Amino acid sequence: MTSQTADGRQLHGPGLTDVRMMKVVHDNFRRELGLSPEAVRRTAGGDQRRTREVADHVGLFLALLHHHHTIEDDLLWAALLERVPQELAPLVHVMESQHETVAGLLEQSNATLDTWRSTAATSDGEALARVLTELCSALFEHLQAEETHLLPLMARHITTAEWAEFTVQGMSSIPRRKMSLGFGMMLYEGDPEVLGLELANLPAPVRRLLPIIGRRSFRRYARRIHGTSTPRRSTDLVIPAANHVTDQGVSS
Ligand SMILES: [Fe+2]
Repeated sequence: MTSQTADGRQLHGPGLTDVRMMKVVHDNFRRELGLSPEAVRRTAGGDQRRTREVADHVGLFLALLHHHHTIEDDLLWAALLERVPQELAPLVHVMESQHETVAGLLEQSNATLDTWRSTAATSDGEALARVLTELCSALFEHLQAEETHLLPLMARHITTAEWAEFTVQGMSSIPRRKMSLGFGMMLYEGDPEVLGLELANLPAPVRRLLPIIGRRSFRRYARRIHGTSTPRRSTDLVIPAANHVTDQGVSS
């Protein structure tokens, strides 16, 4: 459940904006990007079709992450800076430098991904897997900091309308034909209560069908990308701390 942070601060409730979807989205990033070095390494050198398939998956999540950070900066961070500058003061430096590190590694990941996509060579896949592991180390640290320090502030100082706009813009980054897959991904380990609230906003037939179609799409997709319909969850991934990334990458 995601009702509160580890230190007990509420993420929803009377007088608060319900910000629990952020954790659901973050866990998707953790799982799909955390498992991506393995998916790349499992691809046989020279297998163009498989390379393209895995490269599309990695590229999609790199693009989604970039978009997530962009709208977060524009819609949430900027508003908080204006409203609670004192509360943010001790965090500004660390959050901004984490964002910068992640942005740099995202750029490197995209460049390495393009190379691997065009050569399908094992050595280029290995280079990509290493950069992705580095990205995950920096990203996981950042997501954790954001959940611990910023989410409770967002629950208190971001309005429901602003949060709804953030959610709508977040959804708009998912390609339309991947909508049910995207929802299935979130259902895989997301808080059912939080996803139930999202579903409640949809028309009745969609509300009924989306979980069924979404779960099925995700099982099929996960089998293709991760080799199993039940990939390890974000909580089962051990990501090496930033500055301690080893050649082994992400382990279980
Ligand atoms: Fe976030």
